[in-house]
Amino acid sequence: MTIKHEVPSYLSQHGIGPWGDYLEQIDRVTPYLGNLARWVETMKRPKRMLIVDVPIERDDGTIAHFEGYRVQHNTSRGPGKGGVRFHQDVTLSEVMALSAWMTVKNAAVNVPYGGAKGGIRVDPKTLSQGELQRMTRRYTSEIGIIIGPNKDIPAPDVNTNEQIMAWMMDTYSMNQGSTASGVVTGKPISLGGSLGRREATGRGVFVVGCEAAVKRGLDIHGAKIAVQGFGNVGSIAARLFSEAGAKVVAVQDHKTTIVRDSGLDVAALQAHVQETGSVAGFSGGDEVSDRAQFWAVDCDILVPAALEQQITVENAGKIRAKIILEGANGPTSPAADDILHEKGVLIVPDVIANAGGVTVSYFEWVQDFSSFFWTEDEINLRLTRIMREAFTAVWQLAEEKKVSLRTAAFIVACTRVLQAREMRGLYP
Ligand SMILES: NC(=O)c1ccc[n+]([C@@H]2O[C@H](COP(=O)([O-])OP(=O)(O)OC[C@H]3O[C@@H](n4cnc5c(N)ncnc54)[C@H](O)[C@@H]3O)[C@@H](O)[C@H]2O)c1
Repeated sequence: MTIKHEVPSYLSQHGIGPWGDYLEQIDRVTPYLGNLARWVETMKRPKRMLIVDVPIERDDGTIAHFEGYRVQHNTSRGPGKGGVRFHQDVTLSEVMALSAWMTVKNAAVNVPYGGAKGGIRVDPKTLSQGELQRMTRRYTSEIGIIIGPNKDIPAPDVNTNEQIMAWMMDTYSMNQGSTASGVVTGKPISLGGSLGRREATGRGVFVVGCEAAVKRGLDIHGAKIAVQGFGNVGSIAARLFSEAGAKVVAVQDHKTTIVRDSGLDVAALQAHVQETGSVAGFSGGDEVSDRAQFWAVDCDILVPAALEQQITVENAGKIRAKIILEGANGPTSPAADDILHEKGVLIVPDVIANAGGVTVSYFEWVQDFSSFFWTEDEINLRLTRIMREAFTAVWQLAEEKKVSLRTAAFIVACTRVLQAREMRGLYP
């Protein structure tokens, strides 16, 4: 009998994936770093990468093994911070890139964290609730040697939510012998979670979207919006835009694309997704069978809020939007960036556009440490202020240096990270 062995994702020979996009972004910013360029290699080398085997007993008594990761890209400015993704396409390259974008993002909005990210290569839809819980707990135990409230603080990402964070917090706390609520953020409110955290990333996308619209002379009222990904980030951003009078004309998720030129009823669509797990079958819109059509939809603002490497040289030329708000991490390849720049499309990069989530995660962590909780209004106000300030600072620098918002955001962030590195010096 011949057994076909699967090659672990970290040994994949198929290019370097999203990590390659990230390295190219760093190369593009290096000429603007002055004397700090001498430290730039720091940005290209993750500080610490842990690959773990996550075995569980399945409901039918068999044993299943999953690949798990936690990458701490940089901790020069503070503990690692970044989400945990459960997805069948998770690879080491992807987690490395996502952890690095967290370093850049946290520095760009000036929250006192380094960058980290984690993930398990699994389609969680194939697991029962019991199996999902056992996998989450075993993964938490395995990465428990490097995470902690002062070391590295995970949070939700694709296919992980408040329940997963509650299990992670409980597992870590059980191993420590006392409740450590600050070890993860994005927890349920009853366990030290923060008001406004669930909506924070989508809200941040909306806030910077309004700022960008002002710069482009676009009225949000009546503007046409297309959203890829209708999960936490995409659905909240869509709801806030539609509440502000915009028309959400197209939504794509992992199953299908739905369109309605007069605008979809976002609240009804959210209820449908809650019930069925997808936008497919929604009666208030028309399904488009060719997925590629999504990119050519007539819209003013495009919000990629699903996965990385979605906007590529193949589809960038078709995009009709004036503004792209990167809700997802790494949705645009560097080559596509150039095509869109040529076309005059304004891209608000991920490291600014989706920073609302980590900003309120920071508020949650601070609230947990002081055991004193803020009102939702206070949180939304502070979030809005930080997002606007970050956008304005990056906008001004982009004008001054005549570079894209992405390069400007990377200049701000890399300068902060590398200054911290230089001041701390190398040990020994
Ligand atoms: N949750 C957060 O706070 C947060 C913060 C910052 C950035 N992000 C980023 O935002 C993105 C979405 O995260 P989320 O938390 O909303 O995840 P989620 O799991 O809540 O939703 C993901 C959505 O993407 C859709 N999707 C998956 N594969 C797709 C595909 N191939 N084509 C089209 N749609 C697809 C899913 O159907 C779902 O609607 C990710 O890139 C994530 O890293 C999330």
